[in-house]
Amino acid sequence: MKTILLGIESSCDETSASVCIDGKVINNIIATQSVHKDYGGVVPELASRAHQKNIVTVIHSTLNDAQITFDDLSAIAVTQGPGLLGALIVGYSYAQSLSYALNIPLINVHHMKAHILANFIDDPKPNFPFLCLTVSGGHTQIIKVIGPLEMIELGNTIDDAVGEAFDKGAKLLGFPYPGGPFIDKYAKKGDSNRFQFAESNVSGLNFSFSGIKTSLLYFLKDQQKHSPNFIQENIHDICASYQQHLISMLMKKLVLASNETGIKEIALAGGVAANSELRLQLSKLSEQYNWSTYIPDFQYCTDNAAMIALTGHLYFPYNKFANLTDAPHPRFKF
Ligand code: KG4
Ligand code: ZN
Repeated sequence: MKTILLGIESSCDETSASVCIDGKVINNIIATQSVHKDYGGVVPELASRAHQKNIVTVIHSTLNDAQITFDDLSAIAVTQGPGLLGALIVGYSYAQSLSYALNIPLINVHHMKAHILANFIDDPKPNFPFLCLTVSGGHTQIIKVIGPLEMIELGNTIDDAVGEAFDKGAKLLGFPYPGGPFIDKYAKKGDSNRFQFAESNVSGLNFSFSGIKTSLLYFLKDQQKHSPNFIQENIHDICASYQQHLISMLMKKLVLASNETGIKEIALAGGVAANSELRLQLSKLSEQYNWSTYIPDFQYCTDNAAMIALTGHLYFPYNKFANLTDAPHPRFKF
């Protein structure tokens, strides 16, 4: 008998569904919301309304694509949090009602843990225990992953997430939201040693990214006083230098975490894992320190339901199912 999981994700601005059969992800259908583009960030109410509009179509397309019906499902896995409350409620209520109507288990999934477990979608898969650097628009963490259900947070940001530092920096440079991919693209033709920005120095395995963003702000203001077209004329070098600083702050802590724990299995997770400089620096470090490194395929780094369905598959044997009285947790603790 096959185990067929339907995964549903609606924590932010992607409405996504995925079918996973016996641990193999069959598809990953995502409706991206374009309504936020003009606002410089995700507008919570618009996100909820767009999820409401998209959810039925996304789920039906996903089942049709996998050539299955609701009756074939063994269980449903859904993002319970963290995320935007209104956005979570749409996916969670749909999943909860469906599990009740079909009389099949519902599995609560922590969005950030699912980002980490996305490393188990394709081969090669990391061996336990491994360290995972989780980098997204809302999170920057170093996690010791002992098993699918056992994860320990070793470090976290004390202010902004690294994705936020990318996006806020990109906004100062005139790029639309989310600006991380633009910085990555423009940095490719730039000199990363040309400009210096003040990096915050936090002890231990924690991070701080608010200082470097402010450093960029004052640097740009200062330069524009003398040269109003400074940004346009130096965009490649500014992007390369700013990105280089952000990635080096991440890498320093990752090396420290590996040295402190003795763990050489290193994984990345979250939207910023798509960054090409981060991937390059990680591969350099893996040679230098003899690490085995793992990065999910690009489509599984940003928000997606495949990671939710796969997490459901990994949790399914443990029989830890949701109750009908459960609700979404916008600030779901790690
Ligand atoms: O994991 P994710 O899709 O959503 C959250 O849960 O936050 O991550 C989105 C973040 C955004 O900050 C976006 O700018 C950043 O990932 N991002 C990138 C790149 N692609 C996405 N940052 C830098 N370089 C990229 N190539
Ligand atoms: Zn995410």
